[in-house]
Amino acid sequence: MTTYLITGSNKGLGLEYCRQIKERGDEVIATCRESSPELEALDIQIQTGIDVTSVSAIQQLKANLGKIKIDVLIHNAGIYEYNSISEISSQSLIRQFEVNAIAPVLFTKIILENLAKTSKVVLMTSRMGSIEDNTSGSSYGYRMSKAALCMAGKSLSIDLKSKGISVGILHPGLVSTQMTGFTPNGITVKTSVEGLLQRIDQLDISNTGTFYHANGEVLPW
Ligand SMILES: NC(=O)c1ccc[n+]([C@@H]2O[C@H](COP(=O)([O-])OP(=O)(O)OC[C@H]3O[C@@H](n4cnc5c(N)ncnc54)[C@H](OP(=O)(O)O)[C@@H]3O)[C@@H](O)[C@H]2O)c1
Repeated sequence: MTTYLITGSNKGLGLEYCRQIKERGDEVIATCRESSPELEALDIQIQTGIDVTSVSAIQQLKANLGKIKIDVLIHNAGIYEYNSISEISSQSLIRQFEVNAIAPVLFTKIILENLAKTSKVVLMTSRMGSIEDNTSGSSYGYRMSKAALCMAGKSLSIDLKSKGISVGILHPGLVSTQMTGFTPNGITVKTSVEGLLQRIDQLDISNTGTFYHANGEVLPW
């Protein structure tokens, strides 16, 4: 049985990851700041109080995990704040960097002892973090923080290769969730997570550090 640990699992893509992984018969450790009725209904292990920007909360999580081996660590928690050029504030930029870019790196560092050869680290980044793909501008904090996350993923893929740990850098597509105002133009969480889990199943040392769309397309940096 494969054990997955997911951050930001009380709603949206994180919740759907939990649902589909449970359906497959694998083990899920769902982490979140606060649980939700939908997450509780899945009857899986839930670790609450896990704000990914809190080093002490992650250390407590590590203590709770003990020697459990995590096969797949999915850094899903993220925030989006709209910043046009006239609306940028350093506080908004910093908040997005803290959650989207810095937290996954520090979290991985703290949980590293629970990963082993063939474990996988998955970063939920965004096409909006692709420099080459940026044709519409704006969204400074989100774009900059996700670009930084992509860079962190590349470094992690190099640094963890010798341990046999592979790193997935994944874009879920435009998905109808709270983050996107439940846009009718988005795909469903079900479709997105089905694709993301295919990418994660196919992730290994041969393709570690590649930036993938959930649909299998390789995205440009
Ligand atoms: N939806 C899209 O189209 C899209 C596209 C590209 C990338 N993504 C990425 O996919 C991931 C999931 O997005 P989503 O669409 O499912 O968004 P969502 O519905 O807004 O869910 C975001 C999740 O992140 C959690 N979170 C936020 N800040 C946190 C913190 N400091 N500590 C712990 N958890 C925190 C939220 O928990 P709370 O309820 O406690 O706030 C929630 O569980 C994000 O990384 C996002 O950037 C989404």
